[in-house]
Amino acid sequence: MESNAGDDDSSKNLNDFEKANLDEAQESRLLGGMKEKYVDLGRKICVTILAVAFIVGLITFIIHIDPNNQSDSSHDNDVLIISIIRKVMPRKQPQPDKYTQALRKALMFFNAQRSGPLPKHNNVSRRGDSGMKDGFIGQNLVGGFYDSGDAIKFNFPQSFAMTMLSWSVIEYSGKYEAAGELNHVKEIIKWGADYLLKTFDSSADTIDKIYAQVGTGDTSGWSGKIDTPNDHYCWMRPEDMDYPRDVHECHRCSDLAAEMAAALASASILVHGAETLYQFAGDKKGRYSADITDASIFYNSTNYWDEFIWGATWLFYATGNTSYLERATSRVLATHAGAFSGAPSYGIPSWENKLTGSQVLLSRLRIFLSPGYPYEDMLSTFNKHTDLIMCSYLPVFRSFKRTKGGLIQLNRGVPQPLQFVVQAAFLATLYADYLDASCIPGWYCGLNFYTTQVMHDFAKTQIDYILGKNPRKMSYIVGYGQRYPKHVHHRAALIPKNKIKYTCEGGWKWRDTKKPDPNTIIGAMVGGPDKHDGFRDVRSSYYYTEPTLAGNAGLVAALVALSGKGKAATSIDMSTMFSKVPPMFPPMAPGPAPWKP
Ligand SMILES: *[C@@H]1O[C@H](CO)[C@@H](O)[C@H](O)[C@H]1NC(C)=O
Ligand SMILES: *[C@@H]1O[C@H](CO)[C@@H](O)[C@H](O)[C@H]1NC(C)=O
Ligand SMILES: *[C@@H]1O[C@H](CO)[C@@H](O)[C@H](O)[C@H]1NC(C)=O
Repeated sequence: MESNAGDDDSSKNLNDFEKANLDEAQESRLLGGMKEKYVDLGRKICVTILAVAFIVGLITFIIHIDPNNQSDSSHDNDVLIISIIRKVMPRKQPQPDKYTQALRKALMFFNAQRSGPLPKHNNVSRRGDSGMKDGFIGQNLVGGFYDSGDAIKFNFPQSFAMTMLSWSVIEYSGKYEAAGELNHVKEIIKWGADYLLKTFDSSADTIDKIYAQVGTGDTSGWSGKIDTPNDHYCWMRPEDMDYPRDVHECHRCSDLAAEMAAALASASILVHGAETLYQFAGDKKGRYSADITDASIFYNSTNYWDEFIWGATWLFYATGNTSYLERATSRVLATHAGAFSGAPSYGIPSWENKLTGSQVLLSRLRIFLSPGYPYEDMLSTFNKHTDLIMCSYLPVFRSFKRTKGGLIQLNRGVPQPLQFVVQAAFLATLYADYLDASCIPGWYCGLNFYTTQVMHDFAKTQIDYILGKNPRKMSYIVGYGQRYPKHVHHRAALIPKNKIKYTCEGGWKWRDTKKPDPNTIIGAMVGGPDKHDGFRDVRSSYYYTEPTLAGNAGLVAALVALSGKGKAATSIDMSTMFSKVPPMFPPMAPGPAPWKP
């Protein structure tokens, strides 16, 4: 990814948002009765529906296991009836909905970004093996994914992308399966996890470094004179790269280590390695991008407290060890991570800010398992924060500006808006599904009650905008829809595969031509439009036309969450996330001192 311009926006319009954040006592006084009634009514209906579904399921199950049904003639009758039904009702495959269609494409971006020896059927015809010498003697760093339009491998956004993909699979494996993409997405996650495991000593109990980046992008300070050619200077197909690919390591990199722990824990691969990383994160505190100048230019991490909470949460889910839950719900960590500060980035989920995702993830625990004391205090706070963040996304509160076409400006006017939008759309859909699954009909923003449908609608309108429902009537996903970006800032898209090896500078002519890309990089979501719904389909305008792994991972998550017809309460998988979580019987909170006469 190219470097970001500074945040030039000073209109941190949080006033309405804060207004929505009513004094708690006041809110409950005003709403108490009404809230109870509403929730109760919803719950009764929902419990009835669940009970009916359960009984129907049970009957089906009994019929299935009834041994009499297996061998005798009644079984033949069943088969006969089923085959009659099949004949009477032609099994026409319904056309998959647009989210499913876009999902299939969005996943293909990861195939296109693969580094190392490609699997036999990678299904991106122009791509071949590349980066085969990444690493150095004794340290094989072959594999993983290229980050964006260049061929740098950045562990920080890459592991975040893997965490998001894993999260979406844990919640929505049924929908992936229905889309026929479950194996595909799992394969992608495994590819990423295998690489991350090469970047530290995963067999050790303690480590002192991580290989955090392969390839270099900084070309500043060259002052006209060509320094060592690098990943930004050169425009070559990844298969042809012949310039040096530096390895950058870090020794104090809590944010990176905790994010990698989250990625591996969520992938449930080698939890041992994940725990080692998390311990390293705590032992040697530091920001990884303070250790690695090149990373600070492209993916500067401003603090590591959010990753501590995020990593601890994932490790708790992956191991069931409550000491991680204690960390994740520590008030000290939450304070450092800005949970109470209302900072400009508050509520804006991204590769740099995992607080929002953590708040949703921990609300899940409260909503479904309510573990009670001693966690309830922070869990209810996070749950309330999540409610407020969802309020802030609604147009009526004007916490964020919107373009005329309706795109929420979570980026507050800085470029590349879509990566934030897809994250928010995913979290909103997921949170609405949590509430639906537990028969909670909606949530309060101040005095106003909103149904979960409102949260869904927010996500839908935003993703629909990205898919083409916008003033320019263009899709921001390459290869999806009638009109999409044709001049993507991406080396493997714009240099043809024609048996000619274009040199480092020889590729510039392809970068600079006005002709459309010779290769369609299917499924790549570009940076996106500006705050006036405008878009420059120009390669050098990387703010508009460059895709990234982290952006596509959020897109995939949002798409799978919205895919499938209707808004069924069964759309999430409630239990897989908790499969390692021990039964939590809330112990009694310490009561008042015994009464003495
Ligand atoms: C490529 O497509 C084939 C057929 O659809 C599928 O079986 C295979 O898993 C795909 N490969 C990858 C790497 O996605
Ligand atoms: C990265 O973030 C740190 C901490 O906020 C800040 O001090 C530093 O100036 C930033 N670096 C760049 C290159 O933006
Ligand atoms: C839980 O994690 C803590 C901190 O990493 C560790 O000290 C402890 O041994 C773990 N407990 C179990 C039961 O694994």
